[in-house]
Amino acid sequence: MALRLDYTNMLAENVPGGIPLAALEAAGDAFARAMAVFDERRGRGELGFLDLPAAHESTQQIRQFAEGAGQAFSDIVVLGIGGSALGPIALRSALRSTRWNELGDEARDYFPRLHVLENVDPVTIAELLGRIELGRTLFLVVSKSGGTAETMAQYLVVRGRLIEALGDKFQRHLVFVTDPEKGSLRRIAREESIPTLDIPSNVGGRFSVLSAVGLLPAALIGIDIQALMAGAGDMAERCGARELRKNPAAMYAVLQWLADTQHELGTHVIMPYSDNLRDVGDWFVQLWAESLGKTKPDGTSVGPTPIPALGATDQHSQVQLFMEGPLDKTVTFIAVGARSTDITIPKLHQDVPELAYLGGHSLGELLDVERRATAGALARRGRPNMTITCEKLDAWHVGSMLMMLAIATVIAGALYEVNPLDQPGVELGKRYTYGMLGRPDARDARQEWDALPKPDPESVV
Ligand code: PA5
Repeated sequence: MALRLDYTNMLAENVPGGIPLAALEAAGDAFARAMAVFDERRGRGELGFLDLPAAHESTQQIRQFAEGAGQAFSDIVVLGIGGSALGPIALRSALRSTRWNELGDEARDYFPRLHVLENVDPVTIAELLGRIELGRTLFLVVSKSGGTAETMAQYLVVRGRLIEALGDKFQRHLVFVTDPEKGSLRRIAREESIPTLDIPSNVGGRFSVLSAVGLLPAALIGIDIQALMAGAGDMAERCGARELRKNPAAMYAVLQWLADTQHELGTHVIMPYSDNLRDVGDWFVQLWAESLGKTKPDGTSVGPTPIPALGATDQHSQVQLFMEGPLDKTVTFIAVGARSTDITIPKLHQDVPELAYLGGHSLGELLDVERRATAGALARRGRPNMTITCEKLDAWHVGSMLMMLAIATVIAGALYEVNPLDQPGVELGKRYTYGMLGRPDARDARQEWDALPKPDPESVV
């Protein structure tokens, strides 16, 4: 069964404060214009992620590469940040386990552990490098640009440690995943013949989960990447529909855009009711925030604020805010149909009413009932929400969901009239960093930094 988007609770007819059906219908023109922009981008070859599911040969090559390498290593470490880290993390949690690295060899079917160094915190990196056996570890250096400061710093540290520990055999422990032509990693790979997989040049960082960025680590831990791509392909086809009601990605984008721009509901919560999907929430946050939070050429700033939450955990944390705080949010629940494991709650303490009613139900059922109850309660309080349902938590459905959210992001970019594929806002901070660390081509940034106001003792308590 295909992935479903239920938007009943987004509509004013069902939830006061929601979007009137008439407004959704009136958005038909905006939808058509957005699809025209989408088509133009695709025509210009900018949306390479859409073509990945049909690139069977490259998926097959990644699988073969992983089969050759996988079982030879006890640990795989991804060096990356942003889109180069969030995708692999989301796939590991969704399709293996949130505690994959804590499982014993047998429970992991002898597939390696998968660590993702998504930051440059020395405490975390020292701790990991001190714990793993370098001689049994494969490091995947993942960077589309091939020059991101954090990833390059991770790489330099790891390369230094590998040389120290393994001498001239160190290269056997490195694989690069980067742009086919550009960047320092590509140059080093060519000079040193380091095995390298391509990220197609028209696939941007946060849209790269279905390229080698996500697929290689996934395949190395035994995820069925062909099923993942089949699900993604199916969704890409569905989202080609020119009828809004038949196009889940467009419907998601249009509803969120209308909620933000016409109803001041610009905070978009993503709330899976599944621990496995928690990291998909983080992956989506980057996609939605970095793609849509932009200053337009006329100087106006736009973009929704995504917030990750987890059901049922956040019912005891953020849900109070969602229910009674400012009426500025939509909530997207992610539901899971059949769970791979469930546990029946035993009928104990039958004389204690606060416990007895739970007996005989299952934990999965409790989670699902709580999700429906929270959605209903939000609706009752005039808080619009919708639900994406994955009938099964398998590679096919996860591929389908990732593709839907990626396409929705590009369509939302067209609705907000911004370029969802760039991120100019992060450049200035990067330039200041380069300037402060003495990168020769950033002297001007250093000067600009030096001219900024310095901490005023009067303003420090
Ligand atoms: O979406 C993006 O382009 C960014 O968030 C990148 O993923 C992030 O900056 C890492 O870039 P790179 O893969 O080039 O190292």
